[in-house]
Amino acid sequence: MKGQFKMKVLVIGSGGREHTLVWKITQSPKVSQIYCAPGNAGISKLAQCINIDADNIEKLANFAKKEKIDLTVVGPELPLSRGIVNEFSEQGLRIFGPSKEATEIESSKVFSKYLMKKYNIPTANYEVFKNSEKAFNYIKQQAFPLVIKADGLAAGKGVFIVKNMVQARDALDTLMEEKKFGEAGRQVIIEEFLEGEEVSILAFSDGRNVVPMVSSQDHKKIYDNDQGPNTGGMGAYSPVPFYNHKSEKIFLQKILIPVIEGLQKEGREYKGVIYAGLILTKDGPKVLEFNARFGDPETQVILPRLKTDLIDILNAVIDETLHKINIEWEDNAAVCVVLASGGYPGKYQKGKVISGLERLKKMEDIIVFHAGSKLQDNKVITSGGRVLGITAWAENITEAKKKAYEGMEKIYFEDMYYRKDIATKAIK
Ligand code: AMP
Ligand code: GLY
Repeated sequence: MKGQFKMKVLVIGSGGREHTLVWKITQSPKVSQIYCAPGNAGISKLAQCINIDADNIEKLANFAKKEKIDLTVVGPELPLSRGIVNEFSEQGLRIFGPSKEATEIESSKVFSKYLMKKYNIPTANYEVFKNSEKAFNYIKQQAFPLVIKADGLAAGKGVFIVKNMVQARDALDTLMEEKKFGEAGRQVIIEEFLEGEEVSILAFSDGRNVVPMVSSQDHKKIYDNDQGPNTGGMGAYSPVPFYNHKSEKIFLQKILIPVIEGLQKEGREYKGVIYAGLILTKDGPKVLEFNARFGDPETQVILPRLKTDLIDILNAVIDETLHKINIEWEDNAAVCVVLASGGYPGKYQKGKVISGLERLKKMEDIIVFHAGSKLQDNKVITSGGRVLGITAWAENITEAKKKAYEGMEKIYFEDMYYRKDIATKAIK
């Protein structure tokens, strides 16, 4: 690469997803320097962390201009939904991600459902309400369980599966009367409850061409056997054995291509990563939601399996040349187990010293992706609910799982909690 132009890259965000992105980007021979805003303790070993919040678009753009950043990669949904891509593009700054208008596929569930209905994309039947009494009267005529969802962004907490009128009333009150999620709950969706295994399929889209990534599954509930309240995700694995060739074919023809073409027709060209949360029902795969970005913790198990230089893919998306590159994956498996602070997703303590990270470095094909961690007096301490994601890869899921849990045993902080059954479903 001697004498060749090398890029300066800025990654935006501070979670396990962003640590994984930074780690993957460091492997590209085309990159000379990586910055991350704001980053975390793990990221600071690989990139220069910048103390700017992920949603401070003005400051981020000023930084990118001043440092002559060649490419900015956005991790979380909030800056996307506030138009970071529009703003950077207007200022002539190169950035990876969908525009504000295209991000509405995640930031407004009402828009997402409208799009799916219009373009015949399989999803749960639904109705939209702006008034809680009308919503309640509608529910009286439906059979339980039902799903009630806030229209806007609610960090994964705006979805309620209700089994009776009391729970339905509670959910509507929380969203529409108490306005717990503010504007996000101004409109609600009430939809039929679907049954099946959930799978996350992420894809790269340059607006015209789409290329799906390998499949993965998140574990959203806090306790083993999918019990207890929802979290940001307690672990993931890839690939998913029950997402077979037939599901993939249906996904491409009935979901992925129609959604990208539909967005194009609506004047909301989609460039970036599109994430489909699928449920595999007895009538075939249906869409639960779309996200406008890489998933967390799905990214932690997907990117270690990617053989192609990620920078080449990101550039191809921006330049609309995805059809010209061949995206290749390892024929292996990866498992990520999340280590959380005791009490999460409710109240938990911060500031616990994390030990054992050095011991794990001696192991092969395993890495700790940091989420809620920070450096203080040369020590790594906890600073969030989900703290670390121990991620291992091997020739199959059984081996990858074994290795991830072996790694986990080397790490300690007071009150740490993790699920013991990550990827068990894939092995049974
Ligand atoms: P969403 O943010 O729309 O993906 O919803 C979050 C979670 O709620 C999903 O991952 C599912 O576990 C559950 N969920 C959402 N919609 C439905 C549905 N229609 N039927 C069954 N479960 C659902
Ligand atoms: N793993 C769920 C999400 O990224 O939204």
